[in-house]
Amino acid sequence: MIKLGVNIDHIATIRQARKDDIPSVVDAALVCQKAGADSITVHLREDKRHIQDSDVYDLKKSIKTKLNLEMSATDEIIKVALNVKPDSVCIVPEKRQELTTEGGLDVKKNKKSLANCVDKLKKAGIIVSMFIEADIDQILACSQIGADAVEIHTGRYARFYKENGGNSLDFREEFKKILEVSQEAAKNNLLLNAGHGLDYDNVKHMCKVPNLKEFNIGFSIIAKSVFTGLRTAVKDMKKLINKG
Ligand code: PXP
Repeated sequence: MIKLGVNIDHIATIRQARKDDIPSVVDAALVCQKAGADSITVHLREDKRHIQDSDVYDLKKSIKTKLNLEMSATDEIIKVALNVKPDSVCIVPEKRQELTTEGGLDVKKNKKSLANCVDKLKKAGIIVSMFIEADIDQILACSQIGADAVEIHTGRYARFYKENGGNSLDFREEFKKILEVSQEAAKNNLLLNAGHGLDYDNVKHMCKVPNLKEFNIGFSIIAKSVFTGLRTAVKDMKKLINKG
């Protein structure tokens, strides 16, 4: 069964709109946990636009389910990760101007510095994943630097699905790449996760990818929760994944 990590960054986005203390990120995480989330994911961005350092510490103290920290490989954020010791981290590229993480990491190009970061985090007992595009060369680079896992950036998959309902050549080519990457990850003993842009529609087709361990889904769940409440939004996504 593919697991569900719920990304709750946008609970903090609402709170930061007023720089207030509601809605509580910890309360949201506890609702997700109760509704069946297998892990809670947060992205501690360098610009701290939503999640704050204190949220990460509070979550670690408060939740029973796993904590997954998305982060860039910078000294400041690595220091927080080494202090908090989340169950896992996902190393992501980060640009100040972007609305969300726009692409995957170029692990192949930045092997030396990323190997150093992976080594520090793994020595602290943290599972280390790399957020990459569906690209075989990136899988091989992740394996060479000793990463435990990869998370496939499904942004292109989601965009092509939305544009053409999964019928275009672009969509079929992207999905084929994801299938190839899934095989290569298994060959290299890398755990396989996926995330970005997954929603109640496109997640069903993604469930067909072999070897997938976990989806990390945020925006679509939080957006739906405005109308249904967070508990139902998480439960509905969990049901779809279990059916898939
Ligand atoms: N996985 C990673 C590595 C991400 O950076 C994000 C966005 O923060 C997600 C998953 C979740 O993407 P979405 O919010 O589009 O579901």
